[in-house]
Amino acid sequence: MERLKVVTLGGGSGYTPELIDGFIRRYQELPVSEYWLVDIDAGKEKLEIVGALAQRMVKKAGIDMTVYLTTDLDKALAGADFVTTQIRVGQLAARIQDEKIPLRYGVLGQETTGPGGFMKAQRTIPVLLDLCRKMEQLCPDAWLINFTNPAGMVTEALSRHSAIKSLGICSGANSMMRDIATAYGVEREDVYARVMGLNHLIFADRIAVKGQDLTDDFIEKLAQGVGGNQLKNIPDIGLPAQFIRALKLYPLSYLKYFYLSREVVEHELQALEHGGTRGEQSLVIEKSLFELYRDPNLCEKPAALSARGGALYSDTACSIISSIYNNKREIHVVNVPNQGATPDLADTSVIETNAVIDAHGAHPLAYGRLPAAIKGLIQSVKAFEELTVEAAMTGDKSTALLALASHPLVPSVAVAEHILSDYLAANRDYLPQYTL
Ligand code: G6P
Repeated sequence: MERLKVVTLGGGSGYTPELIDGFIRRYQELPVSEYWLVDIDAGKEKLEIVGALAQRMVKKAGIDMTVYLTTDLDKALAGADFVTTQIRVGQLAARIQDEKIPLRYGVLGQETTGPGGFMKAQRTIPVLLDLCRKMEQLCPDAWLINFTNPAGMVTEALSRHSAIKSLGICSGANSMMRDIATAYGVEREDVYARVMGLNHLIFADRIAVKGQDLTDDFIEKLAQGVGGNQLKNIPDIGLPAQFIRALKLYPLSYLKYFYLSREVVEHELQALEHGGTRGEQSLVIEKSLFELYRDPNLCEKPAALSARGGALYSDTACSIISSIYNNKREIHVVNVPNQGATPDLADTSVIETNAVIDAHGAHPLAYGRLPAAIKGLIQSVKAFEELTVEAAMTGDKSTALLALASHPLVPSVAVAEHILSDYLAANRDYLPQYTL
């Protein structure tokens, strides 16, 4: 049997059981013989706990896969076929800072949307580009499947600045399809929808269930508050029915950050006092998950993992890897350069959309012009993303200010200046590209 080596960076993440579960379930079509979980020294304890669970899961499945745990990146990368990343530079403590600092100025404090996404990109992009350089030496033909947030901007940086073949993935679109399937009592595989936008800023239409177009019906369900996308990490505040009917598109729940920006910030400010930011809540969830993972009798992905926002990660990641490996030509929603899919964005701009996935990678489907209702939002967030990537590459503070000031949720340049200065001060240890 062919030898297939997969490496996961950030292997000590609480999400790892998701991934290993996905590889076990797909073993017949994706025979991973070596699975390497890699982490940094600071993540070693978590790596050992979650890695031991991964080894028990594989043993129980009775498959011929060896799970290696290591902090030696070079050893792990040598000869790899697929590398997946789920790293969090600065760990949850940095995320919590990202969330709290904008809230001081009444601005959204979120992991990937708004200023938080800017800051996470500054810490993350240089680290992932270093990884690409290592891959160029140790496994130049391997695929890099990136799940590290902000996934859209990371993909934008990798596609512009590295020759390594990469794809950005997110569980968001898959969760929307799941919600449609649940609303109609069918399987996820029975649902297809056309998706367009940017990471954490996607809209679906042409919703087909077993081949029948149910877009209008599903939009009406949404308007009536039934069946909509509700990720665990997003405040559960409904959009007005009249707005949904007028929009005629199914928005990912992250769109509430834009369409209900004031209400969401109020919600976050209240959460800050009672229960903490989502990052603080995630710390608590993670602690209890790792307590479960420690149990030597646990040999499967615990149901409690579904309390995290990215719960469908394995389905998304593993099915896309299998589609590349087996040259399946399946259609998946991925982050990929536009390449003409819509004329309303540059060909090189990374978008999140349906693409045919084969052994050569992702080929986005033609979409055409963006509807007027969403065109401006997508274009302005894309401008923010491109400036954010440029700032992350250069460490240029003026570009960083332009990026923050151009985000639609940042109300004034003065506020952008405050957020930037607080962010840079709080992230000194993680910003080698900046002169601080
Ligand atoms: C969603 C997003 C992921 C994100 C996650 C956060 O599913 O698609 O990109 O990382 O939620 O979940 P958390 O439990 O960390 O707040």
